[in-house]
Amino acid sequence: MPYSTELSGWATLSGLAPRLREARIARLFEVERQRPARMTLRTCGLVADFSKQAIDAAAWDALDALGHEAALPAAIDALFGGEAVNFTERRPALHMALRGSCAPPAGDEAALAEAMGRARQLAEALRAGALTGRTGRAIRTVVNLGIGGSDLGPRMAVEALAESNRGAAPEVRFVANIDPAEFDEAVRDAEQATTLFIVSSKSFTTAETLANAELARTWLRAGLGEGADTVAHFAAVSNATGAAEAFGIARERIFAIPPWVGGRFSLWSAIGLPLMIAVGTAAFDALLAGARAMDAHFRDAPLALNLPVRMALTGIWNTDLLGIETLAALPYAHRLRSLPAWLQQLEMESNGKRCRRDGSTSPVPTAPVVWGGAGTPGQHAFHQLLYQGTRRVALDFIVPVRGHDSASRALVENALAQAAALMAGRDFETATRSLLARGLAEAEASRLAPHLVSPGNQPSTTLLLPDLDPVSLGALLALYEHKVFVQGWIWGIASFDQYGVELGKEMARALAAGNASAGDPSTRALLAAAEAMRR
Ligand code: F6P
Repeated sequence: MPYSTELSGWATLSGLAPRLREARIARLFEVERQRPARMTLRTCGLVADFSKQAIDAAAWDALDALGHEAALPAAIDALFGGEAVNFTERRPALHMALRGSCAPPAGDEAALAEAMGRARQLAEALRAGALTGRTGRAIRTVVNLGIGGSDLGPRMAVEALAESNRGAAPEVRFVANIDPAEFDEAVRDAEQATTLFIVSSKSFTTAETLANAELARTWLRAGLGEGADTVAHFAAVSNATGAAEAFGIARERIFAIPPWVGGRFSLWSAIGLPLMIAVGTAAFDALLAGARAMDAHFRDAPLALNLPVRMALTGIWNTDLLGIETLAALPYAHRLRSLPAWLQQLEMESNGKRCRRDGSTSPVPTAPVVWGGAGTPGQHAFHQLLYQGTRRVALDFIVPVRGHDSASRALVENALAQAAALMAGRDFETATRSLLARGLAEAEASRLAPHLVSPGNQPSTTLLLPDLDPVSLGALLALYEHKVFVQGWIWGIASFDQYGVELGKEMARALAAGNASAGDPSTRALLAAAEAMRR
């Protein structure tokens, strides 16, 4: 299979791009009256409007044609069929099997069901106040010790959903950083006798998580007594169950996650235990159901109407054909404030790569820099750059419509206003008129007007979610997961490995070991300076 950049569809898109790079998106609505209807997709309760993208009817169809030419339907079949789409590590990526959308590899079914069954029981026992610590008191605080995919998914989902179904559940907190300040903060008002730690690490080798697990044991003993048995205060989620046992975690409290689930795709596995505890297993099942609905849509919908495919191809267009380097994720919900961080790992750890299947280097840019933050606070901070900075930025507005109070209407209105204003912009004449209308003298108005000009033309997708509930969240997260798969396929890169981050870990180990030749002159001088400051 040739790379997508070698296909005739890519050449067609390259032919269309120069004109659309310059085009005013707002003008496209004048010539394409059906634009909002034609470029809005509806599935799984979500409404996705792509009409504010710099894509006209010809490019919209050409992107669909590229998807067909790149054999996307076969790629999607390969993903769900358990083929080794993780081609560097020679294994499948079957996170969809965790939500019942396809079969796990033969022989893995029973072990998976057993681990998930036990995780559910633990979660419900904790929620019922039926799980006790060493002194016989019920556990009231649960602290997840994990990083990357063993942190970002459950942390974000607990924030998003916990308030809706907290009940009498223990409070769930998260510690990722090797900086003990985060640990200290998490346990500040907690009692050792009523605290349970979940050591979440697929590999059970991650330095930060192991350091925090040791810190937890020390902290527990400070309250329970020096040398006290802390086994009642630990659980673990890992693929390396032997290593978890060797750390001292009871076998019945270790929940296995399979090797074919990537860390950043693992919320649906026992890595979701903190979420099950915070919201209950029924809500966790609803999250899985939402993701399952998106899986079915992704597998069965024609490419032209396939939301993850459309989102992926729009991203390819922005990144490769228009040369836009960043994607801002803008959730208009306080409870989705950690979504950009989850998305950063998903997109940048999956597709922040240059090496293609055959070892050659991608001739086109791959993953954009993903960043963002919750609306509306961002409007009073970084949106300035979106309005008047020198860069074009692609935007995803993510907007739950029904909130829990009247403010939800204001959030929707703000999100839509930002998307509209960032597309429309303001020209010199309009700026001048508005200054004159404010009563400024002509000379002063023309002096100030250039500073009010906003080029606009920022391309955006607006995603409406009916509510911030488990079903909608599940669909949203699965949407982005599948988007990432499609983009990785188009770019011909290995979306499911993360060899890059290993380089930094090796350097950290070399520096920590005091290896005199590790690093470079600058690094060695800085280490010495830090050492001197410590004295
Ligand atoms: O170092 C990167 C990484 O391996 C991520 O891919 C992963 O999500 C994270 O670290 C945590 O890994 P683990 O769950 O094995 O501790």
